[in-house]
Amino acid sequence: MADPIDVVAELLAPAFAQVAGREGVDPVVRPSDRADAQVNGALGLAKELGRPPREVAEAVVATGALDGVATVEVAGPGFVNVTFEAAFLGEQVRIVAGDDRLGVAPAPAPRRVVVDYSAPNVAKEMHVGHLRSTVIGDALVRILGFVGHTVIRENHIGDWGRPFGMLIEHLLDIGEDAAAESMRQGDLDGFYKEANAKFSESEQFSDRARQRVVALQAYDPETIAIWERLVAMSNSYFNLVYGKLGVLLTDDDLAGESRYQSLMPEVYARLEAQGLLQESDGAQVVFPPGFTNRDNEPLPLIVRARTGAFMYATSDLACVVDRFERLGADVLLYVVGAPQQQHFQMVFEVARMAGWLVPPREAVHVGFGSVLGPDKKMLRSRSGDAVKLIELLDEAVERAAAAVAEKNPDLDVGTRAEVARMVGIGAVKYADLSTDRVRDYVFDWDRMLSFDGNTAPYLQYAHARICSIFRRAEVERAAVRDAAVVVDAPQERALALRLLAFPSAIHETLATWSPHKLCTYLFDLAQDFTAFYEHCPVLRADEPLRTSRLALCDLTARTLQQGLGLLGIETPEQM
Ligand code: ARG
Repeated sequence: MADPIDVVAELLAPAFAQVAGREGVDPVVRPSDRADAQVNGALGLAKELGRPPREVAEAVVATGALDGVATVEVAGPGFVNVTFEAAFLGEQVRIVAGDDRLGVAPAPAPRRVVVDYSAPNVAKEMHVGHLRSTVIGDALVRILGFVGHTVIRENHIGDWGRPFGMLIEHLLDIGEDAAAESMRQGDLDGFYKEANAKFSESEQFSDRARQRVVALQAYDPETIAIWERLVAMSNSYFNLVYGKLGVLLTDDDLAGESRYQSLMPEVYARLEAQGLLQESDGAQVVFPPGFTNRDNEPLPLIVRARTGAFMYATSDLACVVDRFERLGADVLLYVVGAPQQQHFQMVFEVARMAGWLVPPREAVHVGFGSVLGPDKKMLRSRSGDAVKLIELLDEAVERAAAAVAEKNPDLDVGTRAEVARMVGIGAVKYADLSTDRVRDYVFDWDRMLSFDGNTAPYLQYAHARICSIFRRAEVERAAVRDAAVVVDAPQERALALRLLAFPSAIHETLATWSPHKLCTYLFDLAQDFTAFYEHCPVLRADEPLRTSRLALCDLTARTLQQGLGLLGIETPEQM
């Protein structure tokens, strides 16, 4: 039903109230190395009451609030160490086993959350930063949805602005078929570079490009038609990558920069009416307090350039307005790399000044570090160019096929291909998700595809192994879900406690928007399972122990499957 830590907090709340003579004292329950949990609330309360902390702790214990649930012991300056009764833990596991949500209660106050993620740029190669955004954003979308929030996915692609003049002219030069072909192959960078080269070499071309930008911004129908086809070609390449990755994004989630163009004059007018705009070098800017450059001069957020053009920041301000006012969002998440941190902090600050971002509304930059190559520099392909994501994903599946063939040569060819896809893609995603997102990480094929360590294959293998235990037992998985669960051996106890902590792992993950916390939990779970399976015979045990242990196996597999599923990673039943 609930994490035992929460159960303790709930049971102790009235005991604390009784001792304190008032409601609302936090018992401060934490996991502990020495016991199953430690209660630290007596220390603070002692100060309030002017009594010795140990005496307060004794008084709380003496209420008998945890009788039948745990043995308790007052220790140190006034901690209470809590060790759960085996019967209590067994019963909690049995309750969770009967719950499709594995103990994760739906959010009591669901929120509307816009998740801005992936956001590649049209006619440019998606780089590994976009891969990170896509993978992290998708995991957060799944977790938020599972917890019961309303999630709106937005793929804020870069589909507008000055480069589109030259891109459109280049497309007209080489013809649509050739352009489509180069994008189908994922050669978006080649296309972009060719256009760029012509732009700097030929005056005639750059003139055409400039006129084309003017036509685009004036919504000239012919120009818009070509622009739309260019965007569509790019999108079909992005969709190819999304399809291979298995993420939730679809064309319905597209909300590119072009969408906000018509809203920008209004945003400008609103900032102006509030007196927030100032002139600086001919541009219209806002100076949000607290932002300075290296020389300690106030840093402007440029809303309209000297040329009269609106900026990236303007479109993000329009986005903020659109998401709060039209979509009715409560929370905005921006899953974008760390280099844009200052941009978002400034946009949010200006949105606060304008009164658009006021509590309980919230906006969060969910930033992340870089993907590095073996040389600890930004990951590049062998030729030194940006890595093509599509090739990277294909290579992952190929390498996984080899690894799976070695591990289990008996798999038939069709199953092996399917398993290789799940393992290869899972490995790439998990390598990304399992490091704290704010840090850089080294892209290392051997490590991410290893069956040992904190990797997708290790977790997937633990799941597949449990599926095979049930095949050998010839027992239906669902048949053990109401079984009484024995929690006697230390490994059973550790596994039971871990299984019951799944809801906490989910909540901690969302508290800081950090999928690696869920990864760490799943890795710990798989390790607890391995220890359990080594020390506690399952199929050779006598009843009722056999069924009890099968129940622990089943719940472990379901938790691994659910947890990996929330990270966007599939779980084969054999591998
Ligand atoms: N297209 C941008 C880039 O590749 C990311 C956009 C992120 N989202 C946003 N609302 N600014 O850097």
